[in-house]
Amino acid sequence: MSTSSGQIFQVVRQAARIEEIIGEHIALRPAGREFVGLCPFHEDRRPSMYVSPQKQIFYCFVCAAGGDVFKFVENYHKMSKGETLRFLAQRYGITLPEFRATNPQAASQRDKIVDANLWAAQYFQSNLAGSIGHAAREYLTSRGVHAATIERFQIGCAETQWTALAAAAGKKGISSETLVSVGLVKNRSDGSVYDVFRNRLIFPIVDSSDRVIAFGGRILPSAAPEPNATGPDQEGPKYLNSPETALFSKRETLYALNLARQPLIRKQLAVVVEGYMDVVGCHQAGVENVVATLGTAMTEQHVNLLRRFCNRMALVFDSDEAGRRAADRAIELLLRYPVDVRIAHVPDGKDPCDFCMTHGGEAFEKIVTQAKDSLEYAWEKMYTAFQASDSLAGKQRASEALMRLVAPAIFNNSVDPIRRGLLQKNIADLVGISSDEVHARIRRLAVGTDRPSGDPGAVKPDAAPPVEVDMGLQRAGHWVIGALLCDFSLYHEFRDRISMDLFSSSDMAALLGLLLEYLEELTDMAAGNLAEFIARVDNPALVRLAIQAQAEAERGGNLNQKIEDSLTRLEELALRGSPAGIDADSSQVAPDEADRLKTAVNARMQAVKINKLQRKLGPRPSGG
Ligand code: GTP
Ligand code: MN
Repeated sequence: MSTSSGQIFQVVRQAARIEEIIGEHIALRPAGREFVGLCPFHEDRRPSMYVSPQKQIFYCFVCAAGGDVFKFVENYHKMSKGETLRFLAQRYGITLPEFRATNPQAASQRDKIVDANLWAAQYFQSNLAGSIGHAAREYLTSRGVHAATIERFQIGCAETQWTALAAAAGKKGISSETLVSVGLVKNRSDGSVYDVFRNRLIFPIVDSSDRVIAFGGRILPSAAPEPNATGPDQEGPKYLNSPETALFSKRETLYALNLARQPLIRKQLAVVVEGYMDVVGCHQAGVENVVATLGTAMTEQHVNLLRRFCNRMALVFDSDEAGRRAADRAIELLLRYPVDVRIAHVPDGKDPCDFCMTHGGEAFEKIVTQAKDSLEYAWEKMYTAFQASDSLAGKQRASEALMRLVAPAIFNNSVDPIRRGLLQKNIADLVGISSDEVHARIRRLAVGTDRPSGDPGAVKPDAAPPVEVDMGLQRAGHWVIGALLCDFSLYHEFRDRISMDLFSSSDMAALLGLLLEYLEELTDMAAGNLAEFIARVDNPALVRLAIQAQAEAERGGNLNQKIEDSLTRLEELALRGSPAGIDADSSQVAPDEADRLKTAVNARMQAVKINKLQRKLGPRPSGG
């Protein structure tokens, strides 16, 4: 049973192209036989994630995230093992055996949320297509939205009735608890429920693995209040969003990133607008590298999300006062990151959607390419305030505000020296002090500024070097494991000399235990696969150890000789009675975790020994 599920994982792992899956979420560039990109699992400033198509693994040198393609998808999309398997199998056209039939209760809470949202998206879409959707269709037509665009964005609409969705869901067996938990219905005090979205255009919010995780609902203009309706307000706000759930967080989500991801990787430029309709209008006009925040200002999470794909961003705002304020807030955040940020406002009081509808995509692209550099934007704003102020204090406030704003950008190396010099000179000329003085002042302000955390430059150096005997032990152990991971067939030759007793480090012993278990289970050493083994290792410290050991051994030349020498060294040390656990201090595994692992490894070794014994006694019974 476990073999067959193990086999299906291996089939999918072999079919999946890890660089393709990861490359959809991070801009990867080739580096030798591997690819590198910004690690999505910590706030990476320089590319430190490596993806090896050949080894079928990924690995981050800074945060040590690593594993096979399943591990990446699980962690990146926050999916369960089962969801990951289905996701990847579907991607690569592999039909899975019906695991679910044997375990009908297995649907997780997350599955329920996803299923309910998927159903609701289809329900809203069919509303729009039917007679109920007449007014909504007319509205979309009046805004110039085509049928193909409606389809692409899965736009739908909600009825004016108070319980239409709740009733339809009930017929499909979707419980009202589930609907409440995803924010599609709300409870009345008498225990009955009513629909949250009524008489609205519905924009499904889709995550990077194409799951509907939330909805945005725009009020329709013709909302005629129902005569006898009781309950909360008739119209409500212009936009309503789903509440935050296990799958949805506004601060971390960008509308239409699923559709814009490839285009923005290709163009190496992300265009960020404010509204759902803006995104729809831009994409329809052929500008597809466009996403929107969900009614909030841009957050740190949004910046980090986008920085995985590209380091150029253009923020395009409405030309009204609200748009100006939003631009100011965004600049303040973005100047702290080493990204090229440009700011534009749509002319003639239009928003990006209406602009695209009237003038077309090329004209919009022009706005984007002519967008102002963020420093220039900040400078001009300060210059205006400076000139407008007739008091000295006012002028000083304006220049101080600018220096404070640009300080982090100037000292995180995201501004090139020429631009920096020009800006400093401009400020100096305006204020009437020397350029050096401006520089010193900006530096003082920068020192007091928080840098975004997670700078690899700030990674602590390794702890004090271990003692010499320990080094020998560590290195030899490292080599044995690394060599085996490079070439599983070496195990045949050295099997009888490899024993857990030779390893004193709890990490090394734990890893070897897992490796021996894996090797013993393999019926054919040629079928051994690094990624498959890595996938079995849960502890990140051990994953790191395995990947490092393998990479070092790979670089180190004659594996046969290395493993021979290392085993000899380990045997010598064991004979001399080198104290076990001498290197416990350098262990990555916490002490109680180490204990647990040791117990587990002992149990495994017991199993391995029994296994070996059985093999010596005769062939294993076939099948299982
Ligand atoms: P149109 O006005 O039809 O062009 O839509 P729009 O998407 O361009 O909306 P608008 O420019 O008015 O607002 C920009 C974005 O802010 C919207 O897409 C929503 O995400 C958000 N927003 C606007 N009004 C509200 C509101 O009343 N409540 C909430 N939660 N968000 C809103
Ligand atoms: Mn708008």
